[in-house]
Amino acid sequence: MNLLSAKNLSHTFEYELFSGVSLDLEQKESIAIIGISGSGKSTLLNILSTLLKPDNGTVSIFSEDILSMSKKRLAQIKRDELGLVFQSHYLFKGFSGMENLEVAAMLSKKDIDNELLKRLKIYEPINQKVTELSGGQQQRVSIARVLTKQPRILFVDEPTGNLDKETASEVMDIFFEYIEKNSAGMILVTHDEDLAYKCHKVFKLDNRELIRVK
Ligand SMILES: Nc1ncnc2c1ncn2[C@@H]1O[C@H](COP(=O)(O)OP(=O)(O)OP(=O)(O)O)[C@@H](O)[C@H]1O
Ligand SMILES: [Mg+2]
Repeated sequence: MNLLSAKNLSHTFEYELFSGVSLDLEQKESIAIIGISGSGKSTLLNILSTLLKPDNGTVSIFSEDILSMSKKRLAQIKRDELGLVFQSHYLFKGFSGMENLEVAAMLSKKDIDNELLKRLKIYEPINQKVTELSGGQQQRVSIARVLTKQPRILFVDEPTGNLDKETASEVMDIFFEYIEKNSAGMILVTHDEDLAYKCHKVFKLDNRELIRVK
């Protein structure tokens, strides 16, 4: 089943970032997007994850065009099916890590998975206030929060930027296992080519085009 299909996307801010960008994400599939800083990777991810409207082109999620979808349906898809793990992680700062997870669990009517917290190495500090956690711990709490709602499509922007190599690799294994087990899909933006090549497909944003390199 097709989870996401983008056709002929283009976008310009001060200058044209890219045009003619198309890609398809299937169930259990991971796609990495690489490219130099400023090439437009995060912009493309914002478009694919419905946060930003492209100048041209279409994005379909579960074969429904998001531009012609009702506001209500789009909000429901965003809430229930899309999981965003971005560079800034927007946890509720006044709360503990656990309280952040409880909000996600309550809104999505899902359970908090203690095994996941152990694997992310945040089981011990999870009751501390977010502001007392290290940057890397906060990042992993935000990953736990996103996975708690069990989304069908993960959009992940430099998820391991604050992490040492070993923890980064464990975090990525968690994402890969998650998409396999839940028939979900992932679009990952990263500078780390080793990490990118662990995905099923790799695309490079180069010279305003998205080129498949794996
Ligand atoms: N909201 C915005 N308004 C104006 N220009 C923007 C906006 N967002 C991004 N840009 C510009 O678009 C270009 C690409 O930015 P983008 O964040 O997509 O790059 P990136 O490939 O993700 O880079 P990095 O690897 O450094 O994260 C930059 O020149 C940036 O200044
Ligand atoms: Mg970026």
